[in-house]
Parts: sequence; C-alpha cells; structure tokens
Amino acid sequence: MIETMGEKAIQEIKQLLQLSESMEQVVNPYEVSAKDGGKIDYDKIVEKFGCKRVDQSLIDRVHRLTSRDPHVFLRRGVFFAHRDFNEILDSFERGDKFYLYTGRGPSSEALHLGHLIPFMFTKYLQEAFKVPVVIQLTDDEKFMWSKTLKVEDTKRLARENIKDIIACGFDVEKTFIFSNIEHAGTFYENTLKIGKCVTVNKANAIFGFAGEDPVGKMGFPPVQAAPSFASSFQHLFLGKDNNLRCLIPCAIDQDPYFRMTRDVAPRLDYSKSALIESKFLPSLKAMNGKMSASNPNSAIYVTDTTKDIKKKVNSAFSGGKDNSTEQENAGADLEVDIPFKYLSFFLDDDAELEHIKKEYGEGRMLSGPVKQRLTEVLTEVVEKHRKARAAVTDEMVNAFMAVRPLPKMFD
Ligand code: TRP
Repeated sequence: MIETMGEKAIQEIKQLLQLSESMEQVVNPYEVSAKDGGKIDYDKIVEKFGCKRVDQSLIDRVHRLTSRDPHVFLRRGVFFAHRDFNEILDSFERGDKFYLYTGRGPSSEALHLGHLIPFMFTKYLQEAFKVPVVIQLTDDEKFMWSKTLKVEDTKRLARENIKDIIACGFDVEKTFIFSNIEHAGTFYENTLKIGKCVTVNKANAIFGFAGEDPVGKMGFPPVQAAPSFASSFQHLFLGKDNNLRCLIPCAIDQDPYFRMTRDVAPRLDYSKSALIESKFLPSLKAMNGKMSASNPNSAIYVTDTTKDIKKKVNSAFSGGKDNSTEQENAGADLEVDIPFKYLSFFLDDDAELEHIKKEYGEGRMLSGPVKQRLTEVLTEVVEKHRKARAAVTDEMVNAFMAVRPLPKMFD
C-alpha cells in the first residue's frame, strides 16, 4: 500500500523510475541524452513538444524578406523547429517590428562552438531584419543549480561570457545584455506576474522538480520567461512598443521554458513569443547528445589552438572505412560521420559541401582530406572569434550592459 510505504521504499521506486526513464531519450533544459546512447531523434522532439518543422518555404520567405542569403544554420537545418515564426514573418511583411531575445547560463569560463551557435544565429537575424536584441545571462540560475559556484563566481563568469557574446559581432546600438542578478530591478514585476500564473503542479509537470530540490529552482522559470515580454524592458520599449512581439532563437532543450511562457501570455494580455530552435552540435566522439563541457576532447573550445583543433578533429568519430580499399568500395557512412556533420554546420560553401558529400559518401575521397578541410574551417572560425574576443574591453561590456534607450534599434 502506497500510504504505508516508508521513505526508503519511495526513494527506491523513484530511482527505478529514473532508471527506466534514462534509457529513453531525454531532452529538457537540464539534461540532453539520446536513447541507448544513439542519435537524438529530432522528429520525436517536434512531435512531443508540439512545435513545427522549419520547411523550405519558410527559408525561401526569409530569403525574400531580407534580400540576403539565409544563414548557413537555416539552409542546413540546424535551426530546424519553430513556434509561430511564420507569424513573425507575416507581421514583418506588413511592416511591424519585433525584437530578439536569447541567453546563456554562465557556468563555465571557456565556451565551446556549440555555445556560440545561438549567438552567431541571433547576430545574423539582428542584421538581416534590423531589429533589437536582448540577451539574458542567467547567473541566478547557474548559482541555484550549481553545487560549487558562488554568486560572485557566476556574476564574474557572466561578464567573461559576455565578452565572447560581444565577439560574435552584436551592434551596441541595437543590443542590451543583462545579468539577472544585477538587473533584477526592471523586469522583476513581470516575473511576479508570471510566477502567479503557474502552479507548483504545473511547474513540476514541465520541469520535473523534486521534493529535495532547493525551493529557489521553482522560482527560476518566470525569470527566464519575463524577457519574452517587451514590457520587461521599460528603458527600451516603453510606450507604443510595449507589446512588441518577441522572437527567441535558442537550442531546442530550452523549449519547456517557453511553452510555459506562451501559455501564460494571454492571461497577462501579452503577445506570445515566437521561437526558432536549433539542434545540438554533436560531441566529437559520437552523434549522441550535445557537446559536453566536462570532457574537453569531445568539444572544440573557442580557446583551442590550431594544434588542439587538428588533434581533436583527427580523433573524431569517423564514418569512413579503415583502409582505402574498403572506403573505395563502400564509401563513408555520412549519417554517423562527425567531421562531415561539423562541415555541414560550419562550411558556408554549399557547392563544396555537396562535392564532399558525394565524393566522400561514394568512396572516392578518404577521411583524411575531409578532416583536413574541417580543421581549416574550424581554425578559421576559432581564430576569428579569438581576435574579436581579444578586442573586447571592460568598457565595451559596460556599454552593452548600460540600462539605456536604444534610439537606433530599428535602423
Ligand atoms: N537557461 C539558458 C542556459 O542555461 C540560458 C537562457 C536564458 C536562454 N534565457 C534564454 C537560452 C533565452 C535561450 C533563450 O543556457
């Protein structure tokens, strides 16, 4: 009988449930893992979350509306899912504006390439649509979830990470970057209103909080939700833009936060935020899950040297065959080949990618030259970032973080 069960038995049952769960695919803001160590099934996520696939007609529309080539992450299906992105485009076509919101949890000093994906993409959207961007650094979240980081640590990491974010090329006249801990003042009101609309039962169903979690975790989802509403930024949108729509570029694991946010929006008389959501850059070691910050060899960091990159790329999981005769006969398995996957994220030239796909896939090209090309491509990305990052001063960080109006945000 459940009622008479001891605490120990309850714990055991919970563990069993977690065990059976862990063999299934898990994608939420706190954990990403594929079923049985295989590949992430993105179709399943779309179905389960209830978002939509980004299709070619949407990409063509972006092309038409912005009069420029859609970003490589759109063309290659990295940003593959959305919610109401079509509506944002409808209203943009009618001459209405929107703003962009994205963020980062500052849990580590050095960023890897997977961390940069949403920022590279948001910078492109800012330029292509000429719209303002707000970027949230969740130093409060990382403090609440971390076993070791103190408030001072996550605040410092936020400022360090902001340098990497600025290095992605954001326009200071159109971009407001804020730390939750430092900026709590102006958007606190909205976190209260959102918090009041979400029951503990609902939060548990979405985020799976457990009895032994710190109570502060439960207070966090409204904090990530609030920047989706223009009224959170009185210094930017006060007045006529108070209900300006928001488009959120993010990795698909953040979707639960915004499902909750969209649910709450009509009750507060706010417009629902739209989303454009990405896949994860896989680990260098295999196609399962996202790159992990804890195994340095599974990821390319923005601080890696050309030598590091070469070494890591050479030991990446390959779908090519062991010897050249076999490779010539069978070709490479591009479905599992990590170097090819990475090229599809970072090699901008469509014709060259198509050429590699054909030659390597059909066995006329060996894995060596593919890895060689990837090393060049990634070195270029990382070098460009390193230079830009080195040029970011503390004054620039302060300028992006200053609470100020942005008179040129739509120019
Ligand atoms: N929770 C996110 C993380 O840990 C950070 C974040 C805050 C975010 N607001 C966001 C990410 C909006 C995408 C969009 O990385």
